[in-house]
Amino acid sequence: MPLVPRAKITVPRLPPEFVERRAQRADLDAQNGEDIGLVCAPAGYGKTLLLADWALRSTQTETAWVGLERDDNDPRRLWSSVVAAVAGCQSVPRSSPLHAPWIWRPGAQPEFLAELVDALRSLPRPIRLVLDNVHELVEPEALHGLGIFLRNRPGQVQLILSSRLDPPLSLPRLRLAGRLWELRCDRLRFSVAEAATLLEKSGLHLTLAQVEVLHQRTEGCPAGGIVSAEPRMDKDDPVQKISLDALAREQLELAKAGGSGRSARTVHGGHERVLRQTVIALRGGQSLAEHESPGEATVHVLRGRVRLVAGADSWDGRQGDLLIVPDVAHSLEAVEDAAVLLTVAKTRTAAG
Ligand SMILES: Nc1ncnc2c1ncn2[C@@H]1O[C@H](COP(=O)(O)OP(=O)(O)O)[C@@H](O)[C@H]1O
Ligand SMILES: [Mg+2]
Repeated sequence: MPLVPRAKITVPRLPPEFVERRAQRADLDAQNGEDIGLVCAPAGYGKTLLLADWALRSTQTETAWVGLERDDNDPRRLWSSVVAAVAGCQSVPRSSPLHAPWIWRPGAQPEFLAELVDALRSLPRPIRLVLDNVHELVEPEALHGLGIFLRNRPGQVQLILSSRLDPPLSLPRLRLAGRLWELRCDRLRFSVAEAATLLEKSGLHLTLAQVEVLHQRTEGCPAGGIVSAEPRMDKDDPVQKISLDALAREQLELAKAGGSGRSARTVHGGHERVLRQTVIALRGGQSLAEHESPGEATVHVLRGRVRLVAGADSWDGRQGDLLIVPDVAHSLEAVEDAAVLLTVAKTRTAAG
């Protein structure tokens, strides 16, 4: 079986600005472990962080975590990740077959799953299995395997699926039978108080009225712009403070969630200003098309890696680097998911 990267089966760490969500955690705690849990909401609603917090705080039950990716449409990868995640739980005895090498035979997914379910059934203590990003599974064979696993899930394993979309599994049947519990947008949405805490922790000190405006505009989606640093929010304050870190994170989430793979927000600028500063996030592989430099410009890499290309020349920059943009036509490519602060002094108008 393929080696599984540790990060993929490790419960994600919580960011410093994490806002605890006791009510939602209690919802998770209250569920019957024999039913299937579905946490379903668009990107940015805090599914991953809520589940991570729940997993990290539980002292009674261990959590096996799998962050699914596109590659897991290969069932061999999918199930090797699940085996590795469960085998990583302390309570799984050394003698468990889960620790033995697992052999994958093409075309024998049902047999593999039967053995896996048997091995799980003989675990001495219940565990939880969180499958995060189930929306990544789109290929029939992987979905078929997951369907088999759902139908035959052993009582010792509490299964929680987290997904941006309703997975194409027989969930309606489970729902009808009362064997499915769900946590959706209505419950995941941040309250105004939670939004206020998040903003405060992100270094944005706003009045309650400002928080309410942001909350309403974002419908309580934490990554949907609650932490948007709206420039010049407080007209009475001569100094505007913006958390570039929070903004970079937010724009990256939006870039990854959106079809274009890009997102940008101007933090300073406007017609009457010479200086324009924009946080731009690009999904890995995306680029900003070649354009004339509209004036002196710098690119400060806030996250990830980018490549500035001008003709036959290119310069790589990673987090913390400042690229001084040459005064020639150029493009900016994201080598991996990246966010930059583009600063431009408009000494002349753009040529096109
Ligand atoms: N409880 C929280 N406290 C602070 N920030 C949060 C919280 N939940 C979500 N966020 C913000 O929203 C972003 C997306 O959260 P995440 O859990 O990855 O969402 P999802 O898994 O639903 O796409 C996080 O990177 C963070 O900036
Ligand atoms: Mg997530």
